[in-house]
Amino acid sequence: MDVVSLIPAPDAIPVHWLWFQLLLTITTFMHLIAMNITLGTGAIAVALPLTDGESVNDLRRRIGKSLPYSIALTINFGVAPLLFLQVLYGQFLYTSSVLMGGFWLSIIGLLIIAYYATYIFTLKYDALGGGSVFISIAVVILLTVAFLYVNNLSLMQMPESWHEYFVNRDGWLLNFADRALLPRYLHFVASAIAIGGLAIAFYYEILKRRGHNETSRWIKTGCNWFSIVTVVNFGIGFWFFSFLPAPILDMQTITGKIFISLLGVAIFCTFLAVIKAQTYKVFPATIWALSAVFLMTLMRDLLRVTHLKPFFNITELPVNPQYSPLLIFLVALAGAVYLISWMLKTVWAAKEVK
Ligand code: HEM
Repeated sequence: MDVVSLIPAPDAIPVHWLWFQLLLTITTFMHLIAMNITLGTGAIAVALPLTDGESVNDLRRRIGKSLPYSIALTINFGVAPLLFLQVLYGQFLYTSSVLMGGFWLSIIGLLIIAYYATYIFTLKYDALGGGSVFISIAVVILLTVAFLYVNNLSLMQMPESWHEYFVNRDGWLLNFADRALLPRYLHFVASAIAIGGLAIAFYYEILKRRGHNETSRWIKTGCNWFSIVTVVNFGIGFWFFSFLPAPILDMQTITGKIFISLLGVAIFCTFLAVIKAQTYKVFPATIWALSAVFLMTLMRDLLRVTHLKPFFNITELPVNPQYSPLLIFLVALAGAVYLISWMLKTVWAAKEVK
């Protein structure tokens, strides 16, 4: 079967594709950071009693309090890249979402259950003797949702897998034809746990700077989670690397050159982040780690472009110029950034520290 015949025609876009690409990359980065904090701190809250016994209640309570907020932020920061992705790659994303439609729609129900589970975990922490069952349910659901996202993004960039629909027409398609699916998923999960650890260290570092005692234990705990899981993730990353399509590693092409350079710099940033985390220098470790995540986000975009190259070239998307919606969007964005920075400054200046 000619898979090209299965790909719908693209819609025209209102401004140059680079605008959407820029916004897609930035908002995906923000979504991934929020997702990492949610999934990572949740997973650490599950594991803590196994490693440190009873004495971890303070940290688990704080994680429990933050989870309903961080889930909300993950979802809200997910909406923006979803919109930009649909604008640029709608003909691929809509199709893959339909092919796995059963799983795709189940995400809404799954997230509602995860929300409830985190609320029960935090509100009934003492009554339930630590609520391990509920935080475990939430984390298992988040891991499932992450897998479904990885599956959809893999399926959208591999139209050659779409003919599986004729064998499985019920909307429950998983793209196991992609040999990178499992390493890609594990790479995301490990990076979530690592960044979750760093988020814990970052949070307690702020408390320390605001005069709190008893923070150093948790700064060390967070930094150690970050370092150990990142070292493991180097292995998973190279496993993932071994399944990448040959053209992305071809140094004769401009894409290959950019990809390999980004990879080199990202690995360098990760090394520096681990070194800083090992000496408990939380802020520099965070800056290096976030730089690495940003570079990897760019690499994901390049990988998608390379996968889709036989079927689609983003630079050839038809443009039907309409600049006013973009202008209104940018003004609203600037207003939102201003309000959020004002809010953060106000919270920082507040006297009360709990
Ligand atoms: C709270 C649970 C969620 C988790 C654990 C999660 C996890 C993930 C992961 C692991 C990826 C990367 C997948 C890959 O590249 O292979 C991803 C990407 C993405 N997520 Fe989420 N996600 C969550 C919720 C959401 C929601 C609710 C939305 C939309 C409303 C969303 C929108 C997106 C989009 C659009 C991307 C791809 C961006 C791109 O490819 O540039 N996510 N998510």
